[in-house]
Amino acid sequence: MPEENRLDAIATREQRATVDPQGMLDLVLKFPDQCREAVSIPWHYGVGGSEPAETRRIAVTGLGGSAIGGDFLRCLADEYGPIPVMVNRDYHLPHWVNRNTLVIAASYSGNTEETLQAIRDAGLAEAQIAVVTSGGRLAEIAKHAGYAYALVPGGQPPRSATGYMFFPQLNFLAHRSLLRHTFDKDIEETVHVLEQLARRLGPEVPTAQNVAKQLAQALYGKIPVIYGSQGYRGVVAYRWKCQFNENTKIAAFSNVLPEQNHNEILAWVQANKQAQNWAVVFLRDPQERSENPRILRRVEVTQELVGRVAGVYEVYAEGESLLARLFSLVYIADFVSVYLAYLYGVCPTEISYIDHLKEELTKLG
Ligand code: F6R
Repeated sequence: MPEENRLDAIATREQRATVDPQGMLDLVLKFPDQCREAVSIPWHYGVGGSEPAETRRIAVTGLGGSAIGGDFLRCLADEYGPIPVMVNRDYHLPHWVNRNTLVIAASYSGNTEETLQAIRDAGLAEAQIAVVTSGGRLAEIAKHAGYAYALVPGGQPPRSATGYMFFPQLNFLAHRSLLRHTFDKDIEETVHVLEQLARRLGPEVPTAQNVAKQLAQALYGKIPVIYGSQGYRGVVAYRWKCQFNENTKIAAFSNVLPEQNHNEILAWVQANKQAQNWAVVFLRDPQERSENPRILRRVEVTQELVGRVAGVYEVYAEGESLLARLFSLVYIADFVSVYLAYLYGVCPTEISYIDHLKEELTKLG
């Protein structure tokens, strides 16, 4: 069957049963609802931990699909926050973490060993601690130690639960006046934009009208390189890369301008000797001209140079608020990576190598 028809023959759940037995696309389609639900997830404010102190910085600690929510938070804090947010993806927290640091431990399963070690570090540093998880050991630790925690619904792959993992963090910061912005309208807009995207990119929309299916086809057999045009698009480019890695099981790479213009741009001199099948997706924003007019010229020149050896594609953020624009670009990758998995005939949900690695490490005790 031609690839185009393969993507058009998956409109119903039954038709997708063999290619997507665990229903990743169904989770993707429910993502706008997940975000709406996530906004109302309550925080349980503990009584334990150290004495309240002034919060001067924030460290979100987590890995993979749970860490990316911290990256989104950082993007918002860069725009609206009075204090910095950093994201820690390792066993240990930086040594500057102290009682003036809010540490948010984010692990969907609640059993990721690096995050469990990092929360121990946070305790030793007498940091202010908050936990977002669906359960596991992390929930036990939070309840036992009296840390603030938000319990999110469990039972799905962490990378499909970024709404659950992100919105409680946003609420926590807003509740503690750690973001100088009111997000109610932005959240409404974000969910609305996501719902519109789900209608336009969903499985029943044929390839001829479906840009996610079209991009999946264009990327078939290629090595995707995702470039964010600037700012938060760098974080989103990394999310696209990870979705191609985890959902599609392919190599993919990401970077962001202007940094790319100072080193990686030279990779395109010889890239076609390394492989003939690169494809570059630029993640753009309609507001980038007002953010920085010079970035437009950077994108144009980069596209011209890269376009000599690779197909170049563009995807634009939608919506007005930063939150909506960020989530719209994130959401498009969910569809493209799952459709591309269908074209390769791989199950988007299974992550056998990650599971294997975690099992091997468990054996160490
Ligand atoms: C799996 C996924 C992974 C996990 C990571 C950490 O869907 O996205 O990147 O997020 O292995 O596990 P958690 O999120 O349970 O702490």
